[in-house]
Amino acid sequence: MKNDIKNVLLTEEEIRLKVKELGQKISNDYKGKSLLLICLLKGSAIFLADLCRAIDLPIRLEFMQVSSYGNGTENTKNITIKQDISQIPADSNIVIVEDILDTGRTLYYIRKYLMLKNPASLEICTLLDKPSRRLVSVDAKYVGFEVPDEFVVGYGLDFAEKYRNLPYIGVLRPEVYENN
Ligand code: IMP
Ligand code: MG
Repeated sequence: MKNDIKNVLLTEEEIRLKVKELGQKISNDYKGKSLLLICLLKGSAIFLADLCRAIDLPIRLEFMQVSSYGNGTENTKNITIKQDISQIPADSNIVIVEDILDTGRTLYYIRKYLMLKNPASLEICTLLDKPSRRLVSVDAKYVGFEVPDEFVVGYGLDFAEKYRNLPYIGVLRPEVYENN
């Protein structure tokens, strides 16, 4: 697995500190409010697990799965909801937890979809942001790191379902996906 990584972009320690910082920001912003974190599976599962433990407030968790990528590295497909959430409590302040904001298509779609449920508020928390790839404008209130236009894996992010369990975030060697 490690041989497929060109270089480590974000170390375990850098991620740990950033997640703590994001958790503190969210804790300050939602004090006294009803907070619902919606995790977009599967890529965000590990981020969610660490982030929610860095939030010092009572929270609720929900999980959705949307597919856009298939096994490739290019986002060409339409977005479909594979696992949905049921109703949300009327006073919910939603924070969508996402691993990476790339073209923006996924979060644009999900944000619009969740707005139909009339939450009290809706914000986005993404660990990574690749602004150079954006096709659709999306506002993320909480952003961990801006990353360059390279395909990254680890800490939940996959290529063809692999590498999610790397504890750091690394750039995948292009040979790996070009030969796939
Ligand atoms: P978007 O709809 O193009 O913003 O795509 C977002 C989704 O694409 C993310 O939730 C990831 O699952 C996937 N994705 C985008 N870039 C990468 C990457 O560099 N590594 C792994 N997955 C990625
Ligand atoms: Mg994802």
